[in-house]
Amino acid sequence: MLDKTKKDWWKSAVFYQVYPKSFQDTNGDGIGDLRGVIQRLDYLETLGVDGIWLSPVYASPQKDNGYDIADYRAIDPMFGAMEDMEELIREAEKRGITIIMDLVLNHTSDRHRWFLEARSSRDNPYHDYYIWRDGAPDCPPNEMTATFGGSAWTYVPEIGQWYFNQFSPWQPDLNWENPVVRGELCEMIRFWVAKGVGGFRLDVIDNIGKEPDHGITCNGPRLHEYIRELRRRAFREDTLVTVGEAWSASVETARQYADPDGSELNMVFQFEHMCLDSGGEKWDVLPLPLVRLKKCYERWQTGLRGSGWNSLFLENHDLPRVVSRWGDEGNWRVQSAKMLAAMCHGMQGTPYIYQGEELGMTNIRLPIEAYDDLEIKNAYQELLSKGRTPEEALEAIYARGRDNARTPMQWTDGENAGFSDGEPWLPVNRNCLAVNARAALADPDSVFYFYQRLIALRKTYPVFRDGAFTLLDPEDEKCFAYTRDAGGEHLLVVCNFTAEELPEVCPEQFRGAETLLANYPDPAGPLRPYETRMLYIKA
Ligand code: GLC
Ligand code: CA
Repeated sequence: MLDKTKKDWWKSAVFYQVYPKSFQDTNGDGIGDLRGVIQRLDYLETLGVDGIWLSPVYASPQKDNGYDIADYRAIDPMFGAMEDMEELIREAEKRGITIIMDLVLNHTSDRHRWFLEARSSRDNPYHDYYIWRDGAPDCPPNEMTATFGGSAWTYVPEIGQWYFNQFSPWQPDLNWENPVVRGELCEMIRFWVAKGVGGFRLDVIDNIGKEPDHGITCNGPRLHEYIRELRRRAFREDTLVTVGEAWSASVETARQYADPDGSELNMVFQFEHMCLDSGGEKWDVLPLPLVRLKKCYERWQTGLRGSGWNSLFLENHDLPRVVSRWGDEGNWRVQSAKMLAAMCHGMQGTPYIYQGEELGMTNIRLPIEAYDDLEIKNAYQELLSKGRTPEEALEAIYARGRDNARTPMQWTDGENAGFSDGEPWLPVNRNCLAVNARAALADPDSVFYFYQRLIALRKTYPVFRDGAFTLLDPEDEKCFAYTRDAGGEHLLVVCNFTAEELPEVCPEQFRGAETLLANYPDPAGPLRPYETRMLYIKA
């Protein structure tokens, strides 16, 4: 077990993201709940993770699955009660698992008491908690658009003003320029720290310094000032884990967010590697340019070395399943899921596994009516209005839609994959007959045990945490190979990203080295489809 009183403990840790709505239902309403997470803690302990990032469980109208919070200090009854949350924190801790909560500080729900007050009159003390502009009802303050479609401004006729909503009208943005708002949020964070929460994932944190009058959402002038204030006032203990979601992060800004001086956050989720297989927008699906991916990782690995810290991830609740995206879910599901895992976990940083990734869960294809996500629904209409056929629009959704990752966790090959006794809120993927946790636990060659082994390796060999990254054969379009070197330890990671046989990659130094992990028996000679090998030597 990691010593979590050490301030850098998260550098050796592996986290697991639970999307509670889809994890485990215990009362038959078709919706995952906190008791379900408690029930599955033993499973997570077997996997070996050190912490859970729990997607939002706060009281919420669920317009955006909890990323629209109506009360930061209450648990949504759909997920359980505060006692369940407290029990989860305690039970997780017994198993060496720290709970990291999701903090949505950029906006609230339009049902939050603050917003109901704010919109009731211009003189209400809460009015200034949000961002308002005067204007005629037919003329929003400017052309800015909301992430989930439509204008970023919504008119409230009762007071003759527009409020700013970066994501959707149900998610009004908080006014961070108001010091009272910042104070409230800091106090709320202390409420959760007092409950024993060990850290936070900060939703769209790069947006909090916005200046809507100038069209600025990300990287506003006061962004880092606000984050430093949060660190000083709310994240007081330096053992708390803090990871910011920052779609706009570059290596340069990540150095600031994750400055080792501890003045801001521990790390950020950056998304450069996740945007390489898209054109102008997320729905423009392109093949993965492997050379660019390799160079992107190289830039992040070398760029933050000693001056920041990387997060490592391939999936989350907003992204499609990686085995469907960069692997081959049809012919080489198990091999390619393991290869991608090795590629990711071999690097320097803190890995995050998204629920079901450790089973090699895949994307789903549903009729448009069966989707739940507001982004998918809006995108479908927008794609049609831009001239795509319904088939084309659906293909884009099959490739990129967020519900791909949100289908219920596949526990068994039984009814509803063991997720629920009732009708699941989102359909279960039919491949649960083959792809499920029970089958994985019974098969020593499963993707699950490969992840378990990767987690254990990170704890055993310091080179995983400390090693300097060197990219091999940068221009090779089919194979991703790199080394890690530190203190006499040397690690080689080789990944065949194709279904073709490729020439062996093995620098002289690694001839006869120990194999730490591989996804085929007898790992030697030419690389088989989606083969991966991790070789190790200690001087
Ligand atoms: C983040 C969340 C996403 C949510 C959005 C708005 O990107 O991960 O699920 O919809 O923020 O809160
Ligand atoms: Ca339930």
